[in-house]
This record gives sequence, structure tokens and C-alpha cells, in this order.
Amino acid sequence: MARKPFIAGNWKMNMTVASGTKLIADLKPLVKEAKCDVCLCVPAILIPAMVKAAKGSKIKIGAENLHWAASGAYTGEISAEMLKDYGVKYVIIGHSERRQYFGENNDTVNMRTLTALKNELTPIVCIGETLTERTNGETENVLTRQLEFGLHGVEDVKQIVIAYEPVWAIGTGQTATDEQAQETIKFIRKKLSKMFGVKEANRVRILYGGSMNAGNCKGLMAQPDIDGGLIGGASLKLDFAKIVNYEK
Ligand code: PGA
Repeated sequence: MARKPFIAGNWKMNMTVASGTKLIADLKPLVKEAKCDVCLCVPAILIPAMVKAAKGSKIKIGAENLHWAASGAYTGEISAEMLKDYGVKYVIIGHSERRQYFGENNDTVNMRTLTALKNELTPIVCIGETLTERTNGETENVLTRQLEFGLHGVEDVKQIVIAYEPVWAIGTGQTATDEQAQETIKFIRKKLSKMFGVKEANRVRILYGGSMNAGNCKGLMAQPDIDGGLIGGASLKLDFAKIVNYEK
């Protein structure tokens, strides 16, 4: 079965109820013929308003994180049940900014991923190497560890979306070339094949992320192993619709 392309936005810590509502209202008519799945992952506090704004459109609203516990003394965290209350389907896990600034590691990524799956939320699990790791030839080792620890205990890997985001490409304007992205994502799929079997690995959607924009999306999306994009900066503007409509 062919993998359905998936374009997901990541608003990070941007937008307000007013600006987000306006952007979604403007995007709605522009993405109405989208052939791919479309989602915008937004700050938790904006979820209720953005779900309302996106109602009746192709745009699904996702979250940027979730905690592994069902409830309890975890100040500042959000549970799967809270997300499901608003009909959220997708949740970003282990974004490199969370790994870099908030102590996220492969173990916490694993706990969050398993919790998302248990709650029928689709985790968008982020992996990727830093510039130093790439320069030192450690990319494959880093990705292997992120996959082996991060996905430990996962039973049905096709329920997961992987986002390969080289840290050096995020928010820098320095996109990986089509070939670099394809080659690394092919490696990720090969690794998934070893872990879960070829058939299962071939059903996992793997996105590229890192300065993907309206200009470079077509070339990236044409690569055989790239099934979509996780879009930061360009998801804050109407350009997001151009990426969703990359085929046009
Ligand atoms: P960017 O962010 O598109 O702004 O590089 C991507 C991401 O961090 O998911």
C-alpha cells in the first residue's frame, strides 16, 4: 500500500488566538484540494481555538508534546487525555529543541511515544544529528540510537510517523540537499526494516524537516523515501499552503 504523503506544521512558541485563527481561515480555501494529510501542531493553549478554526477543513490540529503519565504532579505538562478531549490526533515527540533546551532524551522520547500509541494518538517522533555529529561521521550511529531507544517496545510501528530533522538545518535556512535527505531517510527505513521487518518499515511515513519551504519542497517530496515534511518557519505563513500543494 502506498504511503500517503503528510505535511505537518510546527508552530513552536508562536502565534496567538487571533493570529492563528486568521492564518487558518486564510489557509482553509488554499488547502481544500490537498491530496496529502495536513496537520498543524500548535502550542497547547491554542489547541481549543485552533480546532474550532480548522473545523470542516483538511487541517487537523496536533500538539507539540505530551507527558507519559495519565495525570498527576507534573506542573506544566499535558496528558494524552487532555489532548484527546479536543480531538487531537497527532503529537510531536522529541523535537530537537526539546532535546536541546528541556532535557528530553531517548528514554523520555520512548515513554512519550508509547503513551501516545496507547492513547491512539499518532506520534511524530523527531530524530536527527547535529552538525558536529555529521562532520564527525556519527550520523548513522546517532540515528540508530535514537531509533533503537526511542522506539523500544513499539509493537505497531506503522502507527508512528518519523520526522528526520538534521539539527543543523532547523531554522537556519540551510536545507539538506534532496540527495542528503533521501540518503539519510533511506538509511532510517533500512534500520526500521531490521527492527520491525521490511513490510512494516515500508508502511512507516518518514518526513523531512529543516528549512523546508515553498521553493524546495517539490524536490524533497520527489525523493522515493521522503513521505512529507515537518515545517517550522514556513508553517507560520501562507507559504504552508504552497507546500501542502507541492504537486501543483
Ligand atoms: P524549520 O523548522 O522549518 O523552521 O527549519 C522545522 C522544525 O523544527 O520542525
